[in-house]
Amino acid sequence: MTISKKIKYLREQKSKAELGGGEKRIQAQHKKGKMTARERIDLLLDDGTFQEIDMLVQHRFSDFGLDKQKYYGDGVITGYGQIDGRLVFVFSQDFTVLGGSLSEAYGQKICKIMDQAMKVGAPVIGLNDSGGARIQEGVVSLGAYADIFLRNTLASGVVPQISAIMGPCAGGAVYSPAITDFIFMVKHTSFMFVTGPEVVKTVTHEEVTFEELGGADTHAGKSGVSHFTSDNEVACLQRVRVLMGFLPQNNMEDPPRRECSDDRNRADEALLQIIPDNANKPYDMKDIIARVVDEGDFLEVHADYAQNIVVGFARLDGRPVGIVANQPCVLAGVLDIDSSIKGGRFVRFCDAFNIPIVTFVDVPGFLPGTDQEWRGIIKNGAKLLYAFCEATVPKITIITRKAYGGAYDVMSSKHIRGDVNLAWPSAEIAVMGPKGAVEIIFKKEIDSAPDKDAATEEKIEEYRERFANPYSAAERGYVDEIIEPQTTRARLIQALEMLDNKVDTNPKKKHGNIPL
Ligand code: HXC
Repeated sequence: MTISKKIKYLREQKSKAELGGGEKRIQAQHKKGKMTARERIDLLLDDGTFQEIDMLVQHRFSDFGLDKQKYYGDGVITGYGQIDGRLVFVFSQDFTVLGGSLSEAYGQKICKIMDQAMKVGAPVIGLNDSGGARIQEGVVSLGAYADIFLRNTLASGVVPQISAIMGPCAGGAVYSPAITDFIFMVKHTSFMFVTGPEVVKTVTHEEVTFEELGGADTHAGKSGVSHFTSDNEVACLQRVRVLMGFLPQNNMEDPPRRECSDDRNRADEALLQIIPDNANKPYDMKDIIARVVDEGDFLEVHADYAQNIVVGFARLDGRPVGIVANQPCVLAGVLDIDSSIKGGRFVRFCDAFNIPIVTFVDVPGFLPGTDQEWRGIIKNGAKLLYAFCEATVPKITIITRKAYGGAYDVMSSKHIRGDVNLAWPSAEIAVMGPKGAVEIIFKKEIDSAPDKDAATEEKIEEYRERFANPYSAAERGYVDEIIEPQTTRARLIQALEMLDNKVDTNPKKKHGNIPL
């Protein structure tokens, strides 16, 4: 055969591979409002940067007629490319080939790029759209999943791992995304569950739709499994690109700094008006965040889950930071089980990837009640505490209003290695709020007073004067400085700059034992 014929043959095979399961199945995919695996990669990566690997791989099975269903690529497209000029590895599951089901060969393709990503220190992005284990391959496909789970775990904290769920993701298959750092879902077309509606009906007699059981809204708001929800696939992939802009390539690098056109000393007088005079009135902590960070640009993570804490990424003078903030306008910003888990996981991500943490504090304490106690607020609240204690990245804390009780300690206080701890003049730092405190320490006086209400009010005022302010904490150096709110942005940037070369370590150990 002449070289030109050989090249023609090669091109034909590659064209075949590009069609996945064929035109008909591509049309069926489009009819469901879903893009193909290749279209998704094109949207995710910078134009023309995708380099495919293992395009011509095929499965090696013949049981149950599999020998008649061979497709190049075997249902997953793998390779590498760039996002904003930075290297990423990608796998994109192709539902048009045997429902995107995972085979031995398919698993090996994913493992190959994960191993390569670990060697060169680059993120891995998985686009999931699969019917799960390829049933015809039996236990071999379970083994292939386990090979991926192991790599997900070993890569955790070494390179960022992102999962976008763009179709079904069921059975044990959910555990690969679950181990990765962030899960993205698309409304109405993606779902995740360990067992589907049919099995649920048989076992628990519950009738539930795919969407209710494991759709994007369910996992964004109820279970907290997913971190980002988008209306469509285009928006989802765009969001993945935005997130990548905040992250370093691996745990040995700093996150990428950008040019910043927002004045680093920009003072914002509106910050003086946000905290209400009445300490029991709510306000939106996101207003403060937006006024302080570069161009008001805040990428919120887990926006619909445990909204009493806010977490996400922003930049200060071009430096990426992770923001953790109590949210006074939801449940008064109280810490409960869900918010502690949400905050703890985010803090650990930031710490693993050298992203400084800025913590805004307005917290009345931990949520009381049998529900919380019986479901383990003790061990779950400890997750957030543990995460902040363990974190060695630059930690800057700013107390805007309440910092009461154990929650004061937890929220990146000086005692647990806060590097720079600031307070606004409106801060109230004490063991407990004024009302609760006076009812305990002045119980006798109040009980014996002729007018109990008046006596309580008087004592509350006395307590407020003495303790509900930042001055006791400042006297002891627990806060480094009480600052004027309008200067917050400048002060945070100055602190981050000072901490640029911070080095801190934890004792040598195999790993800690975070209360799971
Ligand atoms: C082999 C599969 C498959 C699978 C789908 N297909 N899932 N082939 N193994 N797991 C094939 C179908 O036979 C069909 O082929 C084609 O893919 C498209 O599937 P449809 O059912 O027509 O698509 P749709 O109606 O959109 O439904 C999608 C689906 C459904 C909800 C995902 O296919 C489904 O329920 N699949 C089975 C899911 C499942 O139980 N997987 C095993 C879970 S256990 P044809 O040729 O007919 O078009 C698991 C364990 C993982 O995954 C464990 C890891 C530790």
